Amino acid sequence: MNLPAIIVHGGAGDWKEDRLPPALEEVEKAAKIGFRILKNGGSALDAAEACTFHMEGCGKLNAGLGARPNRDGVQELDAMIIDGANLRSGAVMAVTGIQHPISLARFAMEKTSHSQFAGDGVKKLYEKMLSEGYRREISPGVTASSFNAQAGDTVGCVTIDLNSHIAATSSTGGIPDKMAGRVGDSSIFGAGAYADDICGATATGWGEHIIRVLLCRTVVSYVEEGADPQAAAERGIGLLQSKTGSQAGVVVADPNGRYGLAMNTKAMPTVVIVGNVNSIRRFVYAKDVPTC
Ligand code: GLY
Repeated sequence: MNLPAIIVHGGAGDWKEDRLPPALEEVEKAAKIGFRILKNGGSALDAAEACTFHMEGCGKLNAGLGARPNRDGVQELDAMIIDGANLRSGAVMAVTGIQHPISLARFAMEKTSHSQFAGDGVKKLYEKMLSEGYRREISPGVTASSFNAQAGDTVGCVTIDLNSHIAATSSTGGIPDKMAGRVGDSSIFGAGAYADDICGATATGWGEHIIRVLLCRTVVSYVEEGADPQAAAERGIGLLQSKTGSQAGVVVADPNGRYGLAMNTKAMPTVVIVGNVNSIRRFVYAKDVPTC
């Protein structure tokens, strides 16, 4: 049984060694939270949100609570969620004072006629989300998980539910020393994440360069053309490197339970579960990943 499936990463980068074990632990917890939802018949979107929510709240990854501050010392967050079944997406950009932008991104997708929010409108969107009871606030700027769910770079996941629907997310505090108001790839459709009904992908790395090659859309297009997800991930990172000289990571999965991951950074803590929780696989360093 190749479904459901989840692939989760905690960010590609030049990780300090002592930060990798706790990061991998949180990525694994997030993967198990998402997988449990999928296994119980939950949707790819529910699993993707819950998984990302955990990583935003753990404080050990560059998203939500643990996000690195911008140049002015302020955490400004970007996040996006994509429903591969219909190519709809929700994204929030340069968000401040809100710990779980992934839930707000999903609210934008599901409850408004727009797909991207930035600036003062994000605060209004947050108030609207609370007033409509979509999510409950448990302390200022912190919403409760609706799923009873229990830092590197961006976090993200691709989930595939028992109906073969795919969702993808991305959530981040952005790159070091970013200027106030800067928005990276993580909330840009097709760059930081992408999913359709064939494949999903999510990326991590220097957003300005990921945008240049529209990394996730490009990787998914390779799978659509017949490439294996692992080959597609490697080709995507190869393209990014050759066109921009930059470093990044990408994870990919399809409804056949196939997956791939590639990075040209030192590490990208990643956890994959396909079909059964006992199938869990953990990857940390580029050298751990079997290549095509
Ligand atoms: N990939 C995260 C960023 O560039 O903001």
